Amino acid sequence: MNPFESLGLRHDGRALWVLDQTRLPDAEVWVDGSDPAAMVALIQRLAVRGAPLIGVAAAASLATFAHRGASATEYAAACAALRAARPTAVNLMWAMDRMKGSTDPVAEAQRIFTEDVRLCEGMAQQGAALIQDGEGILTHCNTGGLATAGIGTALGILRRAHEQGKRLHVYADETRPLLQGGRLTAWELRKLGIPSTLITDSMAALLLRDGKVQRVLVGSDRVAANGDFANKVGTYGLAVQARFHGVPFHPVAPFSTVDLACPNGAAIPIEQRDPAEVRGYGPLRWAPEAMPAWNPAFDVTPVDLVTSLVLDRGIFSPEELRAGALAKACAGAGSSPMSEGSV
Ligand code: MRU
Repeated sequence: MNPFESLGLRHDGRALWVLDQTRLPDAEVWVDGSDPAAMVALIQRLAVRGAPLIGVAAAASLATFAHRGASATEYAAACAALRAARPTAVNLMWAMDRMKGSTDPVAEAQRIFTEDVRLCEGMAQQGAALIQDGEGILTHCNTGGLATAGIGTALGILRRAHEQGKRLHVYADETRPLLQGGRLTAWELRKLGIPSTLITDSMAALLLRDGKVQRVLVGSDRVAANGDFANKVGTYGLAVQARFHGVPFHPVAPFSTVDLACPNGAAIPIEQRDPAEVRGYGPLRWAPEAMPAWNPAFDVTPVDLVTSLVLDRGIFSPEELRAGALAKACAGAGSSPMSEGSV
Protein backbone atom coordinates (compact mmCIF):
# COMPACT_ATOMS: atom_id res chain seq x y z
CA MET A 1 0.00 0.00 0.00
CA ASN A 2 1.13 3.56 -0.57
CA PRO A 3 1.79 5.32 2.73
CA PHE A 4 -0.78 7.89 3.84
CA GLU A 5 -1.25 9.98 6.95
CA SER A 6 -3.88 12.07 8.69
CA LEU A 7 -4.11 13.48 12.21
CA GLY A 8 -5.42 10.20 13.65
CA LEU A 9 -4.53 7.52 11.07
CA ARG A 10 -1.28 6.49 9.42
CA HIS A 11 -0.25 3.75 6.98
CA ASP A 12 3.48 3.19 6.61
CA GLY A 13 3.12 0.90 3.60
CA ARG A 14 3.20 -2.26 5.74
CA ALA A 15 1.01 -1.60 8.77
CA LEU A 16 -1.92 0.65 9.70
CA TRP A 17 -1.54 2.80 12.82
CA VAL A 18 -4.28 4.52 14.80
CA LEU A 19 -3.74 7.39 17.23
CA ASP A 20 -5.43 6.06 20.38
CA GLN A 21 -7.94 8.85 21.05
CA THR A 22 -8.76 7.49 24.51
CA ARG A 23 -5.25 8.56 25.59
CA LEU A 24 -5.61 12.17 24.41
CA PRO A 25 -4.91 14.90 25.35
CA ASP A 26 -2.15 13.65 27.66
CA ALA A 27 -0.41 11.00 25.55
CA GLU A 28 -0.02 10.48 21.80
CA VAL A 29 0.10 6.70 21.52
CA TRP A 30 -0.16 4.95 18.13
CA VAL A 31 -1.58 1.41 18.09
CA ASP A 32 -1.59 -1.21 15.34
CA GLY A 33 -4.94 -1.46 13.55
CA SER A 34 -3.82 -3.64 10.63
CA ASP A 35 -5.80 -6.66 11.81
CA PRO A 36 -9.57 -6.23 11.26
CA ALA A 37 -10.43 -7.94 14.58
CA ALA A 38 -8.18 -5.44 16.37
CA MET A 39 -9.78 -2.61 14.39
CA VAL A 40 -13.29 -3.70 15.49
CA ALA A 41 -12.14 -3.43 19.11
CA LEU A 42 -10.46 -0.05 18.49
CA ILE A 43 -13.67 1.29 16.93
CA GLN A 44 -15.84 -0.05 19.76
CA ARG A 45 -13.72 1.44 22.53
CA LEU A 46 -13.52 4.76 20.59
CA ALA A 47 -9.73 4.65 20.16
CA VAL A 48 -10.68 5.56 16.59
CA ARG A 49 -13.96 7.43 16.28
CA GLY A 50 -15.91 10.06 14.31
CA ALA A 51 -18.28 8.97 11.55
CA PRO A 52 -16.04 9.50 8.50
CA LEU A 53 -12.85 8.27 10.20
CA ILE A 54 -14.26 4.92 11.31
CA GLY A 55 -15.25 4.22 7.67
CA VAL A 56 -11.80 5.19 6.39
CA ALA A 57 -9.99 3.25 9.15
CA ALA A 58 -12.09 0.11 8.65
CA ALA A 59 -11.44 0.23 4.88
CA ALA A 60 -7.69 0.65 5.42
CA SER A 61 -7.61 -2.26 7.88
CA LEU A 62 -9.49 -4.49 5.45
CA ALA A 63 -7.16 -3.50 2.59
CA THR A 64 -4.11 -4.35 4.71
CA PHE A 65 -5.67 -7.70 5.56
CA ALA A 66 -6.24 -8.42 1.85
CA HIS A 67 -2.71 -7.27 0.99
CA ARG A 68 -1.33 -9.74 3.57
CA GLY A 69 -3.08 -12.62 1.81
CA ALA A 70 -6.50 -13.04 3.47
CA SER A 71 -8.72 -15.57 1.69
CA ALA A 72 -12.03 -14.46 0.13
CA THR A 73 -13.91 -16.08 3.04
CA GLU A 74 -11.72 -14.38 5.66
CA TYR A 75 -12.08 -11.06 3.84
CA ALA A 76 -15.90 -11.33 3.69
CA ALA A 77 -16.14 -12.23 7.41
CA ALA A 78 -13.86 -9.33 8.40
CA CYS A 79 -15.85 -6.93 6.24
CA ALA A 80 -19.11 -8.01 7.93
CA ALA A 81 -17.59 -7.71 11.43
CA LEU A 82 -16.26 -4.20 10.73
CA ARG A 83 -19.58 -3.15 9.21
CA ALA A 84 -21.34 -4.12 12.45
CA ALA A 85 -18.78 -2.59 14.84
CA ARG A 86 -20.94 0.48 15.58
CA PRO A 87 -24.54 0.96 14.43
CA THR A 88 -25.22 4.70 14.02
CA ALA A 89 -22.53 6.26 11.81
CA VAL A 90 -23.56 5.27 8.32
CA ASN A 91 -20.14 6.11 6.88
CA LEU A 92 -18.93 2.77 8.27
CA MET A 93 -21.57 0.80 6.33
CA TRP A 94 -20.99 2.99 3.26
CA ALA A 95 -17.25 2.27 3.27
CA MET A 96 -17.71 -1.47 3.96
CA ASP A 97 -20.23 -1.82 1.12
CA ARG A 98 -17.67 -0.25 -1.22
CA MET A 99 -14.95 -2.58 0.04
CA LYS A 100 -17.22 -5.63 -0.25
CA GLY A 101 -17.86 -5.01 -3.93
CA SER A 102 -14.30 -4.05 -4.80
CA THR A 103 -11.93 -6.11 -6.94
CA ASP A 104 -8.93 -4.05 -5.74
CA PRO A 105 -9.34 -3.44 -1.98
CA VAL A 106 -6.02 -1.59 -1.64
CA ALA A 107 -6.90 0.93 -4.35
CA GLU A 108 -10.46 1.25 -3.02
CA ALA A 109 -9.29 2.01 0.55
CA GLN A 110 -6.87 4.60 -0.79
CA ARG A 111 -9.70 6.20 -2.80
CA ILE A 112 -11.94 6.27 0.30
CA PHE A 113 -9.15 8.05 2.22
CA THR A 114 -8.43 10.70 -0.44
CA GLU A 115 -12.12 11.23 -1.14
CA ASP A 116 -12.74 11.97 2.53
CA VAL A 117 -9.94 14.57 2.51
CA ARG A 118 -11.62 16.18 -0.51
CA LEU A 119 -15.10 16.06 1.06
CA CYS A 120 -13.73 17.92 4.10
CA GLU A 121 -12.42 20.63 1.76
CA GLY A 122 -15.88 20.85 0.15
CA MET A 123 -17.62 21.31 3.52
CA ALA A 124 -15.03 23.90 4.60
CA GLN A 125 -15.52 25.87 1.40
CA GLN A 126 -19.32 25.78 1.64
CA GLY A 127 -19.51 26.47 5.36
CA ALA A 128 -16.81 29.11 5.82
CA ALA A 129 -18.90 31.46 3.69
CA LEU A 130 -21.58 31.40 6.41
CA ILE A 131 -19.23 32.55 9.17
CA GLN A 132 -19.12 36.29 9.85
CA ASP A 133 -16.15 38.14 11.31
CA GLY A 134 -16.36 38.34 15.10
CA GLU A 135 -18.78 35.47 15.68
CA GLY A 136 -18.88 33.31 18.79
CA ILE A 137 -19.53 29.73 17.68
CA LEU A 138 -20.62 26.82 19.84
CA THR A 139 -19.72 23.27 18.83
CA HIS A 140 -20.32 19.82 20.31
CA CYS A 141 -18.30 16.60 20.41
CA ASN A 142 -15.26 16.37 18.11
CA THR A 143 -15.65 17.02 14.40
CA GLY A 144 -12.10 17.86 13.32
CA GLY A 145 -9.02 16.12 11.98
CA LEU A 146 -9.47 13.40 14.60
CA ALA A 147 -12.92 12.52 13.26
CA THR A 148 -12.10 12.47 9.53
CA ALA A 149 -9.19 11.86 7.15
CA GLY A 150 -9.06 15.58 6.38
CA ILE A 151 -9.61 18.84 8.26
CA GLY A 152 -13.00 17.83 9.62
CA THR A 153 -16.67 18.65 9.23
CA ALA A 154 -17.90 21.43 11.58
CA LEU A 155 -14.43 22.03 13.00
CA GLY A 156 -12.98 22.06 9.48
CA ILE A 157 -15.24 25.01 8.68
CA LEU A 158 -14.05 26.85 11.80
CA ARG A 159 -10.44 26.13 10.88
CA ARG A 160 -10.93 27.46 7.34
CA ALA A 161 -12.75 30.61 8.55
CA HIS A 162 -9.91 31.21 11.04
CA GLU A 163 -7.32 30.77 8.26
CA GLN A 164 -9.28 33.29 6.17
CA GLY A 165 -8.62 35.84 8.91
CA LYS A 166 -12.11 35.92 10.39
CA ARG A 167 -12.00 36.60 14.11
CA LEU A 168 -13.85 33.77 15.84
CA HIS A 169 -14.30 32.59 19.36
CA VAL A 170 -15.15 28.90 19.59
CA TYR A 171 -17.00 27.51 22.61
CA ALA A 172 -16.41 23.76 22.90
CA ASP A 173 -18.94 21.66 24.77
CA GLU A 174 -17.20 19.17 27.02
CA THR A 175 -19.58 16.46 25.66
CA ARG A 176 -20.69 14.09 28.37
CA PRO A 177 -20.16 11.25 28.98
CA LEU A 178 -16.97 10.48 27.04
CA LEU A 179 -15.67 14.06 26.84
CA GLN A 180 -14.80 14.20 23.14
CA GLY A 181 -15.11 18.01 23.34
CA GLY A 182 -13.04 18.46 26.48
CA ARG A 183 -10.33 15.98 25.50
CA LEU A 184 -10.22 16.07 21.68
CA THR A 185 -11.75 19.30 20.35
CA ALA A 186 -9.87 21.29 23.00
CA TRP A 187 -6.64 19.52 21.93
CA GLU A 188 -7.27 20.35 18.25
CA LEU A 189 -8.28 23.96 18.94
CA ARG A 190 -5.08 24.53 20.94
CA LYS A 191 -2.97 23.00 18.15
CA LEU A 192 -4.72 25.23 15.56
CA GLY A 193 -4.40 28.38 17.68
CA ILE A 194 -8.11 29.21 17.38
CA PRO A 195 -9.34 31.39 20.28
CA SER A 196 -11.60 29.13 22.31
CA THR A 197 -13.20 28.36 25.66
CA LEU A 198 -14.28 25.03 27.11
CA ILE A 199 -17.69 24.76 28.78
CA THR A 200 -19.62 21.90 30.34
CA ASP A 201 -22.71 20.88 28.37
CA SER A 202 -25.00 22.32 31.03
CA MET A 203 -23.54 25.83 30.53
CA ALA A 204 -24.62 26.13 26.89
CA ALA A 205 -28.08 27.61 27.52
CA LEU A 206 -26.65 30.37 29.69
CA LEU A 207 -24.02 31.18 27.07
CA LEU A 208 -26.74 31.44 24.41
CA ARG A 209 -28.92 33.62 26.66
CA ASP A 210 -26.00 35.96 27.29
CA GLY A 211 -25.56 36.55 23.55
CA LYS A 212 -22.05 35.05 23.42
CA VAL A 213 -22.95 32.65 20.60
CA GLN A 214 -23.99 33.75 17.10
CA ARG A 215 -24.00 30.29 15.52
CA VAL A 216 -23.98 26.60 16.47
CA LEU A 217 -22.11 24.13 14.22
CA VAL A 218 -22.21 20.36 14.80
CA GLY A 219 -21.34 17.20 12.87
CA SER A 220 -23.57 14.28 12.03
CA ASP A 221 -23.36 10.49 12.13
CA ARG A 222 -26.32 9.92 9.85
CA VAL A 223 -28.60 12.27 7.92
CA ALA A 224 -32.01 10.83 6.97
CA ALA A 225 -33.58 11.55 3.57
CA ASN A 226 -35.80 14.30 5.05
CA GLY A 227 -32.92 16.11 6.81
CA ASP A 228 -33.47 14.77 10.36
CA PHE A 229 -30.04 13.77 11.64
CA ALA A 230 -28.31 11.79 14.38
CA ASN A 231 -25.28 13.18 16.17
CA LYS A 232 -23.56 12.89 19.54
CA VAL A 233 -26.06 12.89 22.40
CA GLY A 234 -26.67 16.46 23.52
CA THR A 235 -27.00 17.82 19.98
CA TYR A 236 -30.82 17.77 20.09
CA GLY A 237 -30.81 19.77 23.32
CA LEU A 238 -28.47 22.33 21.78
CA ALA A 239 -30.78 22.65 18.76
CA VAL A 240 -33.77 23.34 21.04
CA GLN A 241 -31.77 25.93 22.99
CA ALA A 242 -30.50 27.59 19.81
CA ARG A 243 -34.05 27.85 18.43
CA PHE A 244 -35.33 29.36 21.71
CA HIS A 245 -32.61 32.01 21.58
CA GLY A 246 -32.92 32.69 17.84
CA VAL A 247 -29.38 31.47 17.07
CA PRO A 248 -28.66 29.75 13.70
CA PHE A 249 -28.00 26.02 14.02
CA HIS A 250 -26.17 24.04 11.30
CA PRO A 251 -25.33 20.35 11.02
CA VAL A 252 -22.34 19.71 8.73
CA ALA A 253 -21.72 16.45 6.87
CA PRO A 254 -20.21 14.86 3.78
CA PHE A 255 -22.57 13.05 1.38
CA SER A 256 -21.22 9.75 2.76
CA THR A 257 -23.17 10.51 5.98
CA VAL A 258 -26.49 10.79 4.10
CA ASP A 259 -28.65 7.66 4.24
CA LEU A 260 -31.42 7.94 1.69
CA ALA A 261 -32.77 4.57 2.85
CA CYS A 262 -33.74 6.17 6.18
CA PRO A 263 -36.85 8.24 5.41
CA ASN A 264 -36.62 10.18 8.68
CA GLY A 265 -34.87 10.28 12.02
CA ALA A 266 -37.08 7.62 13.59
CA ALA A 267 -35.44 5.03 11.31
CA ILE A 268 -31.88 5.82 12.50
CA PRO A 269 -30.48 3.12 14.84
CA ILE A 270 -29.05 4.60 18.02
CA GLU A 271 -26.05 3.01 19.71
CA GLN A 272 -26.58 2.19 23.40
CA ARG A 273 -23.32 2.03 25.33
CA ASP A 274 -22.22 0.61 28.68
CA PRO A 275 -24.01 2.40 31.57
CA ALA A 276 -20.68 2.42 33.43
CA GLU A 277 -19.62 5.28 31.11
CA VAL A 278 -22.26 7.48 32.80
CA ARG A 279 -21.26 6.44 36.34
CA GLY A 280 -17.62 7.40 35.87
CA TYR A 281 -14.70 7.88 33.51
CA GLY A 282 -11.56 5.72 33.33
CA PRO A 283 -10.59 4.62 36.83
CA LEU A 284 -12.79 7.32 38.42
CA ARG A 285 -16.38 6.58 39.49
CA TRP A 286 -18.71 9.17 41.04
CA ALA A 287 -22.04 7.30 41.14
CA PRO A 288 -22.86 4.21 43.20
CA GLU A 289 -21.62 1.14 41.35
CA ALA A 290 -25.10 -0.43 41.18
CA MET A 291 -26.90 2.75 40.10
CA PRO A 292 -28.87 2.08 36.88
CA ALA A 293 -27.84 4.50 34.11
CA TRP A 294 -29.01 5.24 30.55
CA ASN A 295 -26.35 5.75 27.90
CA PRO A 296 -27.53 6.42 24.33
CA ALA A 297 -24.45 7.58 22.38
CA PHE A 298 -26.46 9.70 19.93
CA ASP A 299 -29.71 11.62 19.65
CA VAL A 300 -31.80 12.70 16.68
CA THR A 301 -32.48 16.34 15.83
CA PRO A 302 -35.56 16.99 13.68
CA VAL A 303 -35.05 18.99 10.50
CA ASP A 304 -37.48 21.63 11.86
CA LEU A 305 -34.75 22.82 14.24
CA VAL A 306 -32.12 23.15 11.50
CA THR A 307 -31.31 26.56 10.01
CA SER A 308 -29.43 24.92 7.16
CA LEU A 309 -27.50 21.72 6.50
CA VAL A 310 -23.97 22.20 5.18
CA LEU A 311 -23.01 19.38 2.83
CA ASP A 312 -19.79 19.13 0.82
CA ARG A 313 -21.83 19.98 -2.26
CA GLY A 314 -24.16 22.72 -1.09
CA ILE A 315 -26.17 24.30 1.70
CA PHE A 316 -29.78 23.23 2.12
CA SER A 317 -32.69 24.87 3.96
CA PRO A 318 -35.24 22.75 5.88
CA GLU A 319 -37.78 23.47 3.13
CA GLU A 320 -35.41 22.11 0.48
CA LEU A 321 -34.57 19.10 2.66
CA ARG A 322 -38.24 18.27 3.28
CA ALA A 323 -38.86 18.55 -0.47
CA GLY A 324 -36.23 15.86 -1.19
CA ALA A 325 -33.12 17.94 -1.98
CA LEU A 326 -30.81 15.24 -0.57
CA ALA A 327 -32.05 12.60 -3.00
CA LYS A 328 -31.16 14.94 -5.87
CA ALA A 329 -27.85 16.13 -4.37
CA CYS A 330 -26.64 12.60 -3.60
CA ALA A 331 -28.14 10.73 -6.57
CA GLY A 332 -25.64 8.36 -8.14
CA ALA A 333 -23.09 9.14 -5.46
CA GLY A 334 -23.41 5.79 -3.71
CA SER A 335 -25.13 7.38 -0.76
CA SER A 336 -27.63 4.67 0.15
CA PRO A 337 -25.59 2.06 1.95
CA MET A 338 -28.36 0.69 4.09
CA SER A 339 -30.09 -1.62 1.66
CA GLU A 340 -29.42 -4.65 3.88
CA GLY A 341 -29.63 -5.13 7.62
CA SER A 342 -29.71 -1.45 8.32
CA VAL A 343 -31.88 -1.07 11.37
O1 MRU B 1 -19.02 8.59 19.43
P1 MRU B 1 -18.20 9.43 18.51
O2 MRU B 1 -17.11 10.17 19.21
O3 MRU B 1 -17.70 8.64 17.34
O4 MRU B 1 -19.22 10.53 17.95
C1 MRU B 1 -18.78 11.43 16.97
C2 MRU B 1 -19.78 12.46 16.63
O5 MRU B 1 -20.88 12.46 17.13
C3 MRU B 1 -19.42 13.45 15.57
O6 MRU B 1 -20.13 14.63 15.76
C4 MRU B 1 -19.77 12.82 14.22
O7 MRU B 1 -19.09 11.64 14.01
C5 MRU B 1 -19.67 13.67 13.04
S1 MRU B 1 -18.26 14.70 12.86
C6 MRU B 1 -17.14 13.94 11.94
